[in-house]
Amino acid sequence: QKGGYAHFMLKEIFEQPDVIHRATHAVSEETLPSSLRDAKSITVVACGSSYHAGMIFRYLLEPACGIPVRLELGSEYKYTPVPFSDVIIGISQSGETADTLAAIRKGICNNVRTVAITNVLNSSITRSAQDTILMHAGPEISVAASKSFLAQVGVLMQIVNLLSGRQCIDILDHARYAIEQVLLTDLTDAVDICSSADHLFYVGRGVFYPVMMEGALKMKEISYIHAEAYAAGELKHGPFALLSPETPVIAICSPGQAYEVMLGNMKEMKARGTPIIAFGLENDTDVRDIADVVIPIPEVHPWIQVLTSTVLLQLLAYHTANRLDREIDMPRNLAKSVTVE
Ligand code: M6R
Repeated sequence: QKGGYAHFMLKEIFEQPDVIHRATHAVSEETLPSSLRDAKSITVVACGSSYHAGMIFRYLLEPACGIPVRLELGSEYKYTPVPFSDVIIGISQSGETADTLAAIRKGICNNVRTVAITNVLNSSITRSAQDTILMHAGPEISVAASKSFLAQVGVLMQIVNLLSGRQCIDILDHARYAIEQVLLTDLTDAVDICSSADHLFYVGRGVFYPVMMEGALKMKEISYIHAEAYAAGELKHGPFALLSPETPVIAICSPGQAYEVMLGNMKEMKARGTPIIAFGLENDTDVRDIADVVIPIPEVHPWIQVLTSTVLLQLLAYHTANRLDREIDMPRNLAKSVTVE
């Protein structure tokens, strides 16, 4: 049941404070598969939103542990040659995605150890992989992944914690409160801009690049607006030609190493007359001076910003789709599980 929400997706977005708590406690020192503990190299295989979660993992794990992470789309993995990593992680909320399952089986055939990260007990992936980590997001009815994506990221952040020996679990414990806070954000001005656009660009740098990829996927999936994500530095290598007053850009400008360069990128976009919706700190006057609309983000640890920005992007897509009267829980042409290659 929808529990008083207009759509399952909104209900599932609002469940996320609890979901992130469960997901970040889903794996511990004791339950971490030994294949991961011993790995000197890791391959992650996934599709769609799950691939974006894998990309976030790579951005966090490599600098924290120095373990190289190879990231592959499930649908392309069959075409990639060896060499194999020490372990393959297949990420699939449904546990039934044919391409991700095929990747796990390819690993097993080549004597590579395999780990499944999934939301569904006894799903096909759990029966194929040697080890399984369940993310405990609870059943997700909406076709668009929201809480299952956040749970994947939570589990993967906890794996980074465990492999790096940096016990950031207390940082992750703050996530639920930060998420509760952003759930109350008024997005009306940003929705006004998005719902009247035919094309949207999403840009970010570093770990916020896959966050924006996920935001753009959510927008196109449920609102049917063409939304494209770019690493912010790539815009000037081609897509700049498309910038105009009719192509709003959604940019994330959070404090950190990419802050100054993101401000510069936003100024360049602004000079093309492009409306800018910026995610920035509430008291950041530099962001406020450039952006048409600022979506305030809390001043929290960068990992928590990954989570809160994800939630805000889900809400932006949801409210835009709702304004356009789309069939949010069952978008046209899409299915919850993709069981054919
Ligand atoms: O069940 P999976 O995580 O393997 O599904 C992969 C994709 O089909 C899925 O994430 C899809 O992109 C979502 N509908 C996105 O919201």
